[in-house]
Parts: sequence; structure tokens; C-alpha cells
Amino acid sequence: MSDALNYLVKARPEAMTHYFAFLKDAGKHLDPKTRDLISVITKVHAQTERGFRQYLGRALRDGCTPMEVLDALLMAFPALGLAKIVWAVDIILAMNLPEFKPEAMSSKGQWHDVMAAAELKPGEVQRVDCDGRGLFVYRDKKDIRVYDSRCPHQSTNIPHLALDGLTLTCPKHEWAFDVSTGECIKKGNSPLRRWESKVVKGRLLALW
Ligand code: FES
Repeated sequence: MSDALNYLVKARPEAMTHYFAFLKDAGKHLDPKTRDLISVITKVHAQTERGFRQYLGRALRDGCTPMEVLDALLMAFPALGLAKIVWAVDIILAMNLPEFKPEAMSSKGQWHDVMAAAELKPGEVQRVDCDGRGLFVYRDKKDIRVYDSRCPHQSTNIPHLALDGLTLTCPKHEWAFDVSTGECIKKGNSPLRRWESKVVKGRLLALW
């Protein structure tokens, strides 16, 4: 949330509570992806870059494909016009999201070889770069979890130094995450994006 909205929540909690309740209720019959895409379009229409980055990240996390995002932008052409669509695409390019690369968009999800599973001890976290994507990989006694290193807030690529034990704190606005669950535990409200993974012949593979 922006500093201005945070301020209004503190200064005028009665009014702002109604505002947020209205937004929640207004989308309750829509599936999450549709809601996300409408939110993305509203942010492009208002040209609020921070909001656009945040809602784009949420849409991708909820399962929208890059093609669906581009379709939503193009379908909104009568309201947005070409200049705002180009504004949004420039931001997407600046975010350097691997899934928006043309070669990735033309292929279905693929399994990527991340590392030897044995390199990770139970309770350990490692940051790994794999095929152009940053990952945090956590192992507990039964399971290995693979998370995208991009912050769900505004897609900052979180570095290894942001890790303190099992807590990962994004350097940009200090949202903090528990890497054993991926949940956001401070400041924000969205979890890390988790990729499906499996171990085959001792190699950890992740799907994106
Ligand atoms: S980009 Fe804002 S907390 Fe990570």
C-alpha cells in the first residue's frame, strides 16, 4: 500500500474501512485471476507504477500467464489507448521478468535443473540462479520448497544477503518472509511465489 493510503488509514480509519470493504465486496463474484487482471488494468489506466508492479506480480502468482496479461492490456485498448499500453509494457520490460521473454512465452512450462538435492541439508536455505531466474531453495525433513527470488510486492530481485536464518527481508520496503512456508510475516500481505518441484535421480527440478 502507498504511504498516502497508509496515512489515510491512520487519519480517517472509518472512511477508509468502508472504502476497502467496498473494494473487497465489489469483486466477490469474480475468480481471482479476473479480479487481478482488472486491478492491473486500473493501475495502468491511473498510471501508478508501484501499484502496477504489485498487481502484475499478484496476477502472475495467481496463475495468469504473460499472454493473458498482454491480452487484458490489448483488450482495454479503447480505454487505455496505445500510449498507456506502451507505458505498461516498458515497465514490464524494465522488470526483466523471465516469463515475458518471447522464447519463454511461446513454450509451455518446462522443468529446470536447479541443483543436486544432496547439496541442501535439512533446515538449510540457498539462493540459486537457474536459467535466468533467481530462486530461494529451502529443505525441511520431508520436503524441498523452491521460491522465486522476486518480491511479491514490486518484484525486487531479493539478494542472498537479505536472508537471516529462515527470515528473508526484501531490501526495498522491508516486507519479510518465512522461507519455511513462504508466508509474509511483516509489513506485507502476499507470500513468496512458489514453483512446483521434484527430485529425479538426485537432481532437484523446478517447473515454470
Ligand atoms: S519490493 Fe517492496 S518490499 Fe519488496
